[in-house]
Amino acid sequence: MSFLDLGIDLGTSNIIITSGGTAVLNEPTVIAYNLRTKTVAAFGKEAYSMLGRTPGHIAVIKPLRDGVITNNDMAQELIRRCILKVIGKRLINPRIIMCVPTKITEVERRAVVETAVQAGARTVYLLDEPVAALMGAGADILKPFGHMVVDIGGGTTDVAVTSLGGIVASASVKCGGNLFDSSIVRYYSEYYKLLIGERSAEALKLEYANAFWPSAEEAGTVKGRSLINGMPASAPVSEADIYNAIGEDLSRIVETVLSVFESTPPELIGDIYEDGILIAGGGALIRGIDMYISRETGVKCRIAQDPLGCVARGTSRAFHLRDQLRNGFERISVFSS
Ligand SMILES: Nc1ncnc2c1ncn2[C@@H]1O[C@H](COP(=O)(O)OP(=O)(O)OP(=O)(O)O)[C@@H](O)[C@H]1O
Ligand SMILES: [Mg+2]
Repeated sequence: MSFLDLGIDLGTSNIIITSGGTAVLNEPTVIAYNLRTKTVAAFGKEAYSMLGRTPGHIAVIKPLRDGVITNNDMAQELIRRCILKVIGKRLINPRIIMCVPTKITEVERRAVVETAVQAGARTVYLLDEPVAALMGAGADILKPFGHMVVDIGGGTTDVAVTSLGGIVASASVKCGGNLFDSSIVRYYSEYYKLLIGERSAEALKLEYANAFWPSAEEAGTVKGRSLINGMPASAPVSEADIYNAIGEDLSRIVETVLSVFESTPPELIGDIYEDGILIAGGGALIRGIDMYISRETGVKCRIAQDPLGCVARGTSRAFHLRDQLRNGFERISVFSS
């Protein structure tokens, strides 16, 4: 693979670019815009660190929501800057494979392609995220064998079954890491009358989320503002608290998995029983999520080796299968600029 070939996983939370199978960029999908000078103030990690801490004239923008682009201009700027960061000063227009959620509309697909072209891409390929996730985890998706992936991302959880390189059944639910964070914020305001920020909620999730054996023992505290008197205050945190906060969201993920099983042909269900469900995305890092999904569905689960980077790695692998992708993958559209 030449250095001109880039794989991009443009996620709601993170944008990862791969080249030759290695991640060459990994940044939060965030951009900061100076409303006064009408210029980009920062992007990626730098912009993320500004969240909730900016003066009025700086807007910190997340250009994707629930896996799709909601702010085209800012998404374009972000992708352009990320690509430029990777290629440096070289005057090259890369070929790009971009991942898209299975359930996006034709208009949204066009927006993604347009964004990549505007950002300097010579050719753009689109690849379904679940296909990329499975390829990234090393599954041989071209065989007549059923694979199931559950990708618990920031904005959505995507569940898909593939066979012979195509998607046989899939579903997407707007339930992922961001929703877990807001559920934690809501739980603390309801049960402890404490208002905490989204970033604190995310930090609690990373540290204490346990989907299978949540312990009720107090493990830490969280700071925020009392909803009773408006003063700074704190509340205890246990794994059970976090589980209670996100329990319903986790059940929605299981319901989605079960609904995909309902529309999967029996032969492929047999394959999935044998092979197990692959869990990818940042949500795969929740402790016990594999045992939880396994208990609720009766099918064994395994967590992708690098759940956050799995889709991006799959996009790199897709370059090797480019020709098969073009002919064999119904859902792949190829656009040349
Ligand atoms: N150790 C962890 N435990 C729980 N959640 C985690 C952990 N690490 C990251 N996450 C969460 O994973 C989410 C990001 O996952 P990921 O990068 O797969 O999403 P994305 O691809 O950007 O989003 P999407 O696919 O929905 O567009 C964030 O909500 C983040 O808080
Ligand atoms: Mg993703």
